[in-house]
Amino acid sequence: MSRIEQLIGAMTLGEKLGQLTMTAAPYAVTGPFVAGDISAGIKSGAIGNLLNLYGPDTVAKTQHLAVEETRLGIPLLIGLDVIHGHRTLFPVPLGEAAAFDPALWAATAHAAAREAAADGVHLTFAPMCDVCRDPRWGRIVEGPGEDPFVGAAIAAAKVAGFQGSNLEGIAACAKHFAAYGAVTAGREYASTDISARTLQEVHLPAFAAAVAAGVATIMPAFTELGGVPMTAHKELLTDYLRGELGFEGVIISDYNAIAELMHHGVAADLAEAAALALQAGIDIDMMAGAYGSGLPIALERGLVSLAQVDAAVRRVLILKERLGLFKDPYRGVGVEAAEIVAQRRVLARAAAAKSAVLLKNDGGVLPLAKPRRIALIGPLGDAAEEMRGAWAAAAPMTGCVSVVEGLRAALPDTKIDHAKGVTIDGGDTIGIAEAVTLCDGADAIILCVGEAANMSGEAASRAHPHLPGLQQALCDAVFAAAGTRPVITLLFSGRPLIVPALAEKSAALLAAWFPGSEAGNAIADLITGKVSPSGRTPISWPRATGQIPVFFGERNGGRPFNAADHYTSKYLDSENTPLFVFGHGLSYGRFVFSNLRLSAATLTEKGALTVQVDVANDGARAAEETIFLFSHDKVAQVTRPLLELKGFGKIALEPGARGAVSLTLRGTDLRFPGPRLTPWFEPGEVEICVGTAADRTRLLTATITLVAQ
Ligand code: NOJ
Repeated sequence: MSRIEQLIGAMTLGEKLGQLTMTAAPYAVTGPFVAGDISAGIKSGAIGNLLNLYGPDTVAKTQHLAVEETRLGIPLLIGLDVIHGHRTLFPVPLGEAAAFDPALWAATAHAAAREAAADGVHLTFAPMCDVCRDPRWGRIVEGPGEDPFVGAAIAAAKVAGFQGSNLEGIAACAKHFAAYGAVTAGREYASTDISARTLQEVHLPAFAAAVAAGVATIMPAFTELGGVPMTAHKELLTDYLRGELGFEGVIISDYNAIAELMHHGVAADLAEAAALALQAGIDIDMMAGAYGSGLPIALERGLVSLAQVDAAVRRVLILKERLGLFKDPYRGVGVEAAEIVAQRRVLARAAAAKSAVLLKNDGGVLPLAKPRRIALIGPLGDAAEEMRGAWAAAAPMTGCVSVVEGLRAALPDTKIDHAKGVTIDGGDTIGIAEAVTLCDGADAIILCVGEAANMSGEAASRAHPHLPGLQQALCDAVFAAAGTRPVITLLFSGRPLIVPALAEKSAALLAAWFPGSEAGNAIADLITGKVSPSGRTPISWPRATGQIPVFFGERNGGRPFNAADHYTSKYLDSENTPLFVFGHGLSYGRFVFSNLRLSAATLTEKGALTVQVDVANDGARAAEETIFLFSHDKVAQVTRPLLELKGFGKIALEPGARGAVSLTLRGTDLRFPGPRLTPWFEPGEVEICVGTAADRTRLLTATITLVAQ
């Protein structure tokens, strides 16, 4: 008999439920309450897993309790939200999505996993796979942006990066399954109610990709979907995830989510809540105490069976075994070599630079040619702590490089004067006049504005996703003082902000998101031209709150926009298009595309073809460009989005150089959920559109014909 079956045979019900329980230690606070003393629970076997514990000594001491002082000596599984780095912070996920670089996505996950493993962490609650088209939702910062193809690509890269090929890294957790990003009105924890088609086309692909990449665990969303809380959603957790996708790993509830089934109104007491969750397929109860105290009653009432409990325990023990915890409960724990820590900072700097999106650069104001004096104005100019962004895991409050520090290090001969002017969200204008005087005689004026780190992330929805506080007043005063001199704006945020006036008046606008530990150095690299910006926005930037959701994957509708026809789809008071479209982003090069060619004019479901385009850098600086491949099925049995992303690639070119980008398109890429929502491949013509952003007017287009086998 295997070790796991022997253990299950030897365990009491209490010990089994302990293996299905995950309790929060107090080293990080990520929920409404934490547990008290956990030692007694560990020793009795009532707590088999922890979250929010890290640090070599703390973990070793705690693990020792489980291994040496419990009856069966089963090691603890320890999880933590290692979302965009552990102690070293990379850019927030939405920012990193802008890099459109799967190798980078995997590399930062790998580096974070190593750092977390040395701190005793076995499991991260990442990647967050929630596609979202609503910038009001604060958790948009943790995800891939608006597009399901990008979501799937990031999910696959992150799972590989965190876990390694055989879980030699740390276990990943694809969350929050599913459609959390579609919460009503972008309001955190609100319900979701979307069509089965939208669920399949938009919200499930990233999870399917995570499962295909071998993700070890999955976390259901707090939310309900069409009347069924995800924590109790048997059809999606068991029938779809385990049945259709073949997921064999562990499903972990979100924080207290099983008890919240009572608030949802589907369970009358904790026993019913526990039974619903176990029946649905949830193995581990995070912080609800529902399995520990509710399942014994549910068993007595006949709501669940012992075989169901055993099946969940088996999955948890298999994960512990796969992670090597039975062999070495202290796996990976230790102090890292200084060289590894330093290399991680190098990666963080490169990742932050690759994630920033240059939204505007009129007259080539950037990069700056060695200015004598810079006026650096705004509340984010010297705000090292804010650079951490939401979910700063175990990173200390100090240790991030601020913008002013980065610029001073990069430009030692330049005098850099800084003033905040206003606080991020304060109501006081008193500092504006003094800050504005810095513009006198400055040969470069840089505004540093945006959100605070805690204005996005969990429980951080915003009904007015604009510049907070009185920052717009500060900006207006700076624009007035600058006169005809160009103003460069660095914008920090965990979401696309609604900033049409700022975008109009700034000569250059750089969306830096929250760049992490190396923020200031990476920004200095971009501003001085040491690195050419290469980020592309993974999300549309609305012009107005009333436009939300605005995204490129819209459908045409029966009365598509026509300026000349009143009875068509439009606003009376806004354009339909976003301020900045998905994929938009400038570099210091000037790229020209031509000669779109396809290796075949027809494609079968099992076939593939190559899409190629020539690219030239006619600018004066080396730079990198991103090429997107979209499709559009004009006539099908169900309507198709106006553009669907099917691939992307990058090309780096020296000034004056030319090259080509090749992307593969498979017949299966052009399948979609058919009239009955089963995979569907419909013969007929499909447009293939290639270019640098999801903007029809900037795409090269060819047509292929899909043919039956
Ligand atoms: C609640 C969040 O929704 C989830 O993303 C996180 O992993 C858990 N808390 C644990 O901190």
